Amino acid sequence: RSVSPSEFFKSQIRTVRGWPKAGVNFRDVTTLFHNPQAFRMAIDVFASDCERRPVDIIAAVDARGFALGGALAYHLGKPFVLVRKKGKLPYKTISESYQLEYGTAAVEIHMDACKPDDRVLIVDDLIATGGTLLAAAKLFRELQGNVIGVAALIDLVELGGSQKLRAAGLNVHALCE
Ligand code: PRP
Ligand code: ADE
Repeated sequence: RSVSPSEFFKSQIRTVRGWPKAGVNFRDVTTLFHNPQAFRMAIDVFASDCERRPVDIIAAVDARGFALGGALAYHLGKPFVLVRKKGKLPYKTISESYQLEYGTAAVEIHMDACKPDDRVLIVDDLIATGGTLLAAAKLFRELQGNVIGVAALIDLVELGGSQKLRAAGLNVHALCE
């Protein structure tokens, strides 16, 4: 039997049980990054999406998203924007807070990270509650960017994040669930 792309990607992601705390099954993408064939295939799938639905800017979320977004932006020859955790960017920033299980976190971009109507794709490794990617999308929308969607390796569907992102008008593409 041939293995579907989603089964293949899933097979490349390590699950670490009980990390960072009891009860969590941590989906560890370092194993996918370690396999050049799998990493290339993931970038190629995202790139072929972008050929169907053109983008002007690739953005990625701190920290694991950077590995994916950087490779994709290089492959497509598009500008690359870092969505960073609060306090890391040196120039003038805009900031958006989101809920964590305990307390809040915030992400930031530079205020000149996109121009009005730029088509933006935001990349990360994983969608859990969707809070991080939704906050990232709000940042680009604040700059009048046209956020066409988000791309991730993994969607933890049962947490409802991808549904929340779609409800906010974003296309969601995840390589596996
Ligand atoms: C993880 C993951 C996503 C986010 C998903 O990052 O890389 O960015 O959580 O969760 P959400 O959909 O519930 O927002 P984390 O905040 O652990 O940061 P890190 O990449 O710096 O470890
Ligand atoms: N971020 C939130 N939940 C996660 C999980 N189960 N694995 C990896 N990163 C996560």
